[in-house]
Amino acid sequence: MRTQVAIVGAGPAGMVLAHLLNAAGIACVVVERRTRDYVEGRVRAGVLEQGTVDVLARLGLDGRLRSEGLVHTGTNLAVDGESFRIDMAALTGAAVTVYGQQEVMRDLFDAAESRGLTLVYEAEDLRLYDIEGTTPSLTFRTPQGEQHLACDVIAGCDGFHGVSRRSIPADVLKTFERDYPFGWLGILTDVPPAVHELVYASHANGFALASMRSATRSRYYIQCGIAERVEDWPDARFWDELCLRLGPGIAAGLERGPSFEKSIAPLRSFVGEPMRWGRLFLAGDAAHIVPPTGAKGLNLAVSDVVMLSEALISFYATGSEAGLDGYSARALARVWKAERFSWWFTSLMHRFPEASGFDRRMQVAELAYLSGSRAAQTVLAENYVGLPLTSAAGPSSLELRA
Ligand code: APR
Ligand code: PHB
Repeated sequence: MRTQVAIVGAGPAGMVLAHLLNAAGIACVVVERRTRDYVEGRVRAGVLEQGTVDVLARLGLDGRLRSEGLVHTGTNLAVDGESFRIDMAALTGAAVTVYGQQEVMRDLFDAAESRGLTLVYEAEDLRLYDIEGTTPSLTFRTPQGEQHLACDVIAGCDGFHGVSRRSIPADVLKTFERDYPFGWLGILTDVPPAVHELVYASHANGFALASMRSATRSRYYIQCGIAERVEDWPDARFWDELCLRLGPGIAAGLERGPSFEKSIAPLRSFVGEPMRWGRLFLAGDAAHIVPPTGAKGLNLAVSDVVMLSEALISFYATGSEAGLDGYSARALARVWKAERFSWWFTSLMHRFPEASGFDRRMQVAELAYLSGSRAAQTVLAENYVGLPLTSAAGPSSLELRA
């Protein structure tokens, strides 16, 4: 087999890239280790920045998103049980759309089938060759046998545990990492959301989040210890703790239903630099992880592949590698800003095991300042709805120095 761009991984990064390249007439093959059902079944976040919605619209993938997505013009913060609203639309002119990643994946896969994109599932033991030369290739094994795929460029969209990032020599790849000393225990339940917009709660006991998937399906999270297990949290205990952290005003409107998809996720910040080595280009979780507090993971995957697709389109149109050469710095400039926002929002809202009374007072004082300052709310809102793409002319000199 031969193609122009081999895409490793059919998560949001790989699938949006495949659609962007297909729309530009660039041939690609997506190679995925799992089945479609597995990838589509993974429960992840579901807050789309305006820029992400615009990309899906540009690709003609926004039919269901427009009819089923919930447009949120604001978000709520609760502090020790008392909440206030941040009017993101008034402060920034933009909104977010709540639409589960599972739905995004279904739309991407359905359209891939109807548009004839080439996807290979159940590809095991994938290996990359000659990424430092100009004729890279992949090998992998499918139920049909050993496969070889020659290409011009490899897009490593294979998530945090994939093979792509590990193919960059250890003396080249710099990694930056923070593990947080807590996790999120999340549940889905088929009851209407307590509040029609999200509530991010900071409480002396820890963080909580009231989110949703639709008008009839709620998604709730509470901060828990990393050593805790799902079995430690029967539904009754979960609901009591959630209600305490959200506060009596919100708890009064909260309906308790049987939970499903109860699971614990760790929180981590991670960036690998550079995002390019030879003919291998990383995008999405393969290059970086954010804690879920800012809901940036999926949106960053999309902004990476928009920038990568622009570089590839210019490469195939002109033969110039300038765009490809600039991709890593351009993508990282935006990645680091989202990392900063996700770290800041996580640090502000969670209970850290080693935190002193002073540290908690600092959190509460910052939240009180946020509740009364239009300037502080604007900072939060413009990060939350999504920062613009870094200019194609390259990041600023400040970003280049970093
Ligand atoms: N060969 C082929 N495919 C692989 C391999 C491999 N060796 N290793 C991993 N993959 C596949 C995974 O099975 C997965 O489907 O790559 C895909 C990576 O998808 P994600 O982990 O979702 O990463 P990404 O597309 O960057 O999306 C980032 O989506 O999943 C969320 O939390 C994530 O919000 C973040 C965003
Ligand atoms: C979710 O609905 O799963 C969700 C929403 C917002 C976040 C994280 C997760 O910040």
